[in-house]
Amino acid sequence: MTAPLLDIHLTDDDLTTALRTDARTGLTAEPKSLPPKWFYDARGSELFERITELPEYYPTRTERALLAGVVGEIAAAAHPEVLVELGSGSAAKTRLLLDALTAEGSLKTYVPQDVSASALRGAAEQIATEYPNLAVHGVVSDFTATLHNLPRGGRRMIAFLGGTIGNLVPAERAEFLADINEVLEPGELLLLGAGLVIDPAILVPAYDDAAGVTAEFNRNVLHVLNHRLGADFAPEKFEHIAVWDPDNEWIEMRLRATEPITATIDDLDLTVDFAAGEQMRTEISAKFRPEALRTELTTAGFAPTHTWTDPDARFALFLAERR
Ligand code: SAH
Ligand code: TRP
Repeated sequence: MTAPLLDIHLTDDDLTTALRTDARTGLTAEPKSLPPKWFYDARGSELFERITELPEYYPTRTERALLAGVVGEIAAAAHPEVLVELGSGSAAKTRLLLDALTAEGSLKTYVPQDVSASALRGAAEQIATEYPNLAVHGVVSDFTATLHNLPRGGRRMIAFLGGTIGNLVPAERAEFLADINEVLEPGELLLLGAGLVIDPAILVPAYDDAAGVTAEFNRNVLHVLNHRLGADFAPEKFEHIAVWDPDNEWIEMRLRATEPITATIDDLDLTVDFAAGEQMRTEISAKFRPEALRTELTTAGFAPTHTWTDPDARFALFLAERR
């Protein structure tokens, strides 16, 4: 095999610097909040993999089954030379796409991108081994900060799977879709996977499983603050909460202080107080209505060409062309 190339646009020091800013802003705000990318250190990426295997977490297996049924159509419609995947994580489902796109014959290069260097390295090395004829070029970067450092050349399709689009708040989402549009050339493609609005009785347990894996994943952001910024959070004193917000149509993940807590963040010379019961927002996971998301794609400069939905209408894949 040819060893995969890895571009590191975010070093460990860059991450620490960015976390300092986010922690100072988020922990001194009212209400407190933290951006979701801080879940994903090596432990967080492993916990997320365990989430994808939980019985309650339907998105991964639904998207996988949907992809399995339509990759042939995607390959025929898209025939890209380069597949760029944003927030690729372990890239487990991506094999379905890679199989169809290599069989179709056009694909030469796979570019996985993620903020988690550990997840990216593992995925890039495995895929380079499994697909010896594919050039694998990984990129460690923040997809909300810059997309301009992605490798260029060859007709590209950018895949953004897993419903991660729902982790951006609407203003960030609009900017993100417009940024993707801007880095693409006319005729290049976006393949977007998004969770749909469904019964909260199915949605909520997907983000609050009986085994407590999601709770541990949520609390991982506190471990990250402890390790990276010398903070002294006691994660076990925070309870995981997932609520469906029917007005915004998103799941909101929070950490709730079970008692009054004072935490010190050495690197920031900062002390933060949590009242008993105080809640800090750590993540949203928005769910979508297909028509509205196609409108957002159109507003960002895309022409949506295909929508595929699973039989229970829980998840959708959208193919859209840059105009
Ligand atoms: N695509 C995979 C993983 C989804 S979980 C799947 O469908 O199962 C979300 C992924 O996005 C994680 O791998 C996480 O590390 C990555 N991620 C989250 N925020 C990011 C950011 N700002 N920039 C780059 N990657 C990010
Ligand atoms: N992209 C995933 C989603 O929105 C991320 C995720 C799954 C997540 N479970 C979570 C984020 C629990 C925070 C907490 O489905």
